[in-house]
Amino acid sequence: MPEKIAVVGSNMMDLVTYIDRMPGRGETLEAPDFAMGFGGKGANQAVAAARLGSDVAMVTCVGDDGFGPQVRANLEKNGIDTTHVRTVEGSASGVAPIFVERDGENAILIVKGANAALAPADVDAAAETLRAASAILMQLEVDLETVYHTVAFGAREGVTTILNPAPAHPDLDIARLDGLDWFCPNESELAMLSGLPTGTDDEVIAAARSLIERGIHNVVVTLGGRGARRITADTVEEIAPVSVSPVDTTGAGDAFIGSFAHFLGQGVEPTAALTRAARYAALSITRRGTQTSYATPAEFDDFLSEHGLG
Ligand code: RIB
Ligand code: NA
Repeated sequence: MPEKIAVVGSNMMDLVTYIDRMPGRGETLEAPDFAMGFGGKGANQAVAAARLGSDVAMVTCVGDDGFGPQVRANLEKNGIDTTHVRTVEGSASGVAPIFVERDGENAILIVKGANAALAPADVDAAAETLRAASAILMQLEVDLETVYHTVAFGAREGVTTILNPAPAHPDLDIARLDGLDWFCPNESELAMLSGLPTGTDDEVIAAARSLIERGIHNVVVTLGGRGARRITADTVEEIAPVSVSPVDTTGAGDAFIGSFAHFLGQGVEPTAALTRAARYAALSITRRGTQTSYATPAEFDDFLSEHGLG
C-alpha cells in the first residue's frame, strides 16, 4: 500500500513566458517562448508526491471557468484523489503569470481566484481523508484561517503537518501554528516571520529556534545554493546542496516539500528524507516547467547515479 498524503492548498494555471530580460515600464519586448502548464504550490507538491508513488488526495478549489475542469483532469491524470476538489461558482481559477530568464531564475505573479475560497469547512468535509494521511501538506496561497484550522486539526488528530510558508506572507501568525510538525521557510521567509536577521548560520539557527519556542517542532530552512538546515530545539543538521546547471527553477521548492512528504511517509528517517528531497528538487531545476519537471522513481535513480549519489 502506498503512503497516503493529503494536500490542503492551492492550484494555479501557470502562464510561463521565457524571456531574455524583463521589459521596463511602458516597454514592449518580444519573448522567445511561452508555455501553459499546471502549477500552484499545493498541486505541485501533490504531483511530486504522487509521481514518486504516494497515494495523494487534494483539498482545493477551482473556478467555474475553462481552467477548472482542466486542473481537475490534470490531478486525476496524476492519480490524485479529487473527491475534495470544489468548484466555486462565479469564480475564476487561480492563475500564475511566470517569467523565466535565460539563467533559469523566475519572477512570479499569483492571482488566487478560487483558491481564496478554500475554507475551514472544506477541511472539515475532508476530515476522514486527512485522518488517514501520513502527512498533510500546506502552503500560503489560500486563506490563512484555513491553514491555521488544518494545523490545529493535525495537532488534535495526531497527523503530521508540513507547512511551506510560501509565498512569503507577513500576516502569518506564528502563535496559531502551535503543534505544527514541520515548518519549511527559506531564509527570507524565516527573517520576515521571526522578525530576526538570517544573514549568518548562527542567526538562521536563532531565528528558527525563536519559532520552535512558540510551539513548532521542526524548522527546515532552505538556503538555496547552501543546501538546507533541519533545526530542532536542541539539534542542527545540515542538508547538503546538490549542484546542477539550472534550466528552470520554478516549482523546485514544491518538489522538495512534496518529495520530502513521500520519503517521510515511506519511513525514511527525516534528515535522510530531506537529503533525498533536496536531490529530487535539484533534478527538477534541470528541466523546463513545474510539474513537467518532476521525475519518476526510475528517472530519479538515473539522476542519482549520474551524479554519483546513488
Ligand atoms: O512554486 C511554484 C508555483 O508558484 C508555480 O507553479 C505558480 O503557480 C506559483 O504558485
Ligand atoms: Na523545473
